[in-house]
Amino acid sequence: MLTPDTQKDSNTLNLVKLFCNCVLRFEVKGIIAYKLVFSVLVVFLFLVNASFALYIPLDNYLISCGSSQNITFQGHTYIPDSQYSSLVSQTGDSIVAISNSSVVPFPIYQSARIFTQKASYTFEIEQEGRHWVRLYFYPVPNSDHDLNSSVITVVADEFVLLSNFTFRNYNGLYMFKEYAINVTSVTLTLTFIPSNGSITFVNAIEVVSMPDELFIDQALALNPPAPFSGLSELAFETVYRLNVGGPLVNAQNDTLGRTWESDMKYLHMNSSVTIVSVSPSTIKYPAGVTPETAPNWVYATADAMGDANVADSNFNITWVFPVDPNFSYFIRVHFCDIISKSLNSLLFNLFINTDIALGNLDLSSLTNDLAVPYYKDFVSNVSAGSETLTVSVGPDTMADITNATLSGLEIMKISNALKSFDGFSSAVSLLPNSPSNKKKMGLVAGFIGAIAAIALVGLCYCCFVGRNSKSTQQGRPLLSLPSLYGNFQTMSMMSTTSHKSATASCISLSSINLGRIFTFQEIQDACNKFDERLLLGVGGFGRVYKGTLDNGTNVAVKRGNASSEQGIAEFRTEIDMLSKLRHRHLVSLIGYCDERSEMILVYECMSNGPLRSHLYGTDLPPLSWKQRLEICIGSARGLHYLHTGASQSIIHRDVKTTNILLDDNFVAKVADFGLSKTGPSLDQTHVSTAVKGSFGYLDPEYFRRQQLTEKSDVYSFGVVLMEVLCSRPALNPALPRDQVNIAEWAMNWQKKGMLDKIIDQKLIGNVNSASLKKFGETAEKCLAEYGVDRPSMGDVLWNLEYALQLQETASSALMEPEDSSTNHIIGIQLTPQNFDNGLHMTDEGTSATNDDDAGHASTSVVFSELVNPHAR
Ligand SMILES: *[C@@H]1O[C@H](CO)[C@@H](O)[C@H](O)[C@H]1NC(C)=O
Ligand SMILES: *[C@@H]1O[C@H](CO)[C@@H](O)[C@H](O)[C@H]1NC(C)=O
Ligand SMILES: *[C@@H]1O[C@H](CO)[C@@H](O)[C@H](O)[C@H]1NC(C)=O
Ligand SMILES: *[C@@H]1O[C@H](CO)[C@@H](O)[C@H](O)[C@H]1NC(C)=O
Repeated sequence: MLTPDTQKDSNTLNLVKLFCNCVLRFEVKGIIAYKLVFSVLVVFLFLVNASFALYIPLDNYLISCGSSQNITFQGHTYIPDSQYSSLVSQTGDSIVAISNSSVVPFPIYQSARIFTQKASYTFEIEQEGRHWVRLYFYPVPNSDHDLNSSVITVVADEFVLLSNFTFRNYNGLYMFKEYAINVTSVTLTLTFIPSNGSITFVNAIEVVSMPDELFIDQALALNPPAPFSGLSELAFETVYRLNVGGPLVNAQNDTLGRTWESDMKYLHMNSSVTIVSVSPSTIKYPAGVTPETAPNWVYATADAMGDANVADSNFNITWVFPVDPNFSYFIRVHFCDIISKSLNSLLFNLFINTDIALGNLDLSSLTNDLAVPYYKDFVSNVSAGSETLTVSVGPDTMADITNATLSGLEIMKISNALKSFDGFSSAVSLLPNSPSNKKKMGLVAGFIGAIAAIALVGLCYCCFVGRNSKSTQQGRPLLSLPSLYGNFQTMSMMSTTSHKSATASCISLSSINLGRIFTFQEIQDACNKFDERLLLGVGGFGRVYKGTLDNGTNVAVKRGNASSEQGIAEFRTEIDMLSKLRHRHLVSLIGYCDERSEMILVYECMSNGPLRSHLYGTDLPPLSWKQRLEICIGSARGLHYLHTGASQSIIHRDVKTTNILLDDNFVAKVADFGLSKTGPSLDQTHVSTAVKGSFGYLDPEYFRRQQLTEKSDVYSFGVVLMEVLCSRPALNPALPRDQVNIAEWAMNWQKKGMLDKIIDQKLIGNVNSASLKKFGETAEKCLAEYGVDRPSMGDVLWNLEYALQLQETASSALMEPEDSSTNHIIGIQLTPQNFDNGLHMTDEGTSATNDDDAGHASTSVVFSELVNPHAR
């Protein structure tokens, strides 16, 4: 038998370990129940099976352009383009731009490669067929080039993806584009063309294969209804992809890296809906539908007709989408009957525009069961001429039960006759000497490439060895072919090029982000020589003062106590950690001073202080349930970013309500990284370390085994959730014994299903019961005895967002799309680790470079140790 200490970088082994731990646990608890062990074994085998079923793309290029280091974003690693030395074959110079700004919306947008002339990336394709081509654009502030005014044209083989696009006329801070292109040769070439005298750029590129069955050749045309074939020759651009009735599902939770947005902002005003959801594990995929069609998260939530407040119960639920009228659209509707109690009880219609697309639809007669996914593809009228596309579901007049449902919706623009998605130029006109006979050349080039590959194998051996051996990367030739057009470059020239770009990009992000180094004099001036009247508090580490920098910025200045051994270590850790991290939900370090053996940290000012002071022990006005949820969501985002956003996961180790600070808009930020540790690396499951943290928040498993994982933060966060709900301290020794520890006490009530009996009195009457139930369940899972049973921060985030959505749905009787604009789930395109404000920021060019949060802060800031100096 494997000992629990065997550590191997393998899912299966981890599962074996999990299994052993489970068995072990049963023994420890004295339950000798073979049945239980058996069922664990069944689950275990099922998990192993499931892990084999995962789709692994053969082509999987995730490239961060211009970056000097790997970028982790939404759980995927993006490799610098300079490492694919033969991939980038540029005809002109390229320049690297790296943002040192803290306002970069996502890590993927930190760097860009700028082209002054036509340039191309050529990808060697292993598996012909449809591929996702994803492009990321963000005009990184750059002193030499104003990327906002660059004019971008992108061509992928014979398809024009973007034509003369500029951020000047674009209503957004950044742009993400996704295309599905059937690649029928051995390479795919993406060409970036700057328009007359301008420059062009790109931040990141993905070229990833997808299963052939995902998009087939046929769909149903509407008006008149008729089969439509020939889709495999056409390219698609994703314009809308919705998780109807549910929150955002991001690339991390989709096996094909897709993003599913919430549908709320597209609902027509008059549509009254009820959100329904079931546990994702209850979804039964039939033959021909897989998680690659859509993840079970999508099928497990749906909109159904709301009935409570509508006089006329016979109406349609309608979604409205702005579209470019000069194109036709591929529309995929996803259904899953999670609302019926019995078979054949739901009968409804689907309309696309005013045309009936599916009439008398009885899902259970098609699927023979409930909770079984079903989807159908349509092609909208070519050039219908309307600037909106609508999709509606409504009850059938024949039905006994008046209801209708929809689970997911995808709308994709179809390339036009010029093989373009944008404007009226074709690839041939944009690239005059371009590959009309590309396939033939592809073969020749493939041959040349093969020879070159053999010649270079020796040279590149190190690269192969050095690469991560993740399964998706394995066995893929990393060498690529020389560009098929543009200036042909010799191998040696190409290596110079890549060398050049490598040196150009060697300014590392971390060195830029280190923050300002202050002189002691500057600090003294800022805090008026450490005026005791500016003292915000005293803690284990030292004293915290309010300060004002010479440019007027309010800051919090934490002055360490040089005599404390722990202080020195924590000071270093904090600088180390914070300088690597930038996130809207993490307190930013502005700089530090270590002159004259001083240990001083300068932070952005968080004017509303720690979360705890808004929960109890002060006279501050109570927070509403919605505010509490938003604060929990914000801090969960911060922690999720810590765990997954950086190149190595970081464990905070001291999550508590005094380490969650609120800015002047009550945006929550996680603070105090003094105890943080980088998480286990790939081949480890935990970090062994002496137990540190705060009593009341300590993960019992960590306490017992002294093995630290991200799940310890999840436990502490569960305590925070209970504290937020009940407005009482984590530990209160003054209370009767069974109530001292909030985790134990609240869990008892939660398990009895009576959590509502112990919530903050001030919340009573203002909390939607479904929202409370979701919240309670989430906290309960976080507080699970064993780390393996606790959810990841990503799951916690998802559940909290869901709780917020339930609350908001309940509080707006008739949902109007405008109402939901403040909702965290809506309008966010990419990820939970989000800069919510980023979306509303205008592109005012380089003025956006400074972190402006610090500028508006006003009153007092208190740091964690201050309120409860003895907490540790
Ligand atoms: C891609 O195109 C080729 C040639 O037109 C066709 O045979 C193949 O089925 C297509 N693949 C997909 C997934 O559409
Ligand atoms: C639902 O929409 C369709 C298409 O616009 C329309 O024909 C039908 O009358 C609508 N049904 C109801 C109940 O409004
Ligand atoms: C769509 O085509 C019409 C002509 O049919 C043209 O006037 C209009 O500018 C085009 N719209 C866009 C967005 O390209
Ligand atoms: C970047 O990622 C690749 C593949 O995941 C890995 O082989 C390589 O070691 C990483 N490089 C760095 C500097 O972390």
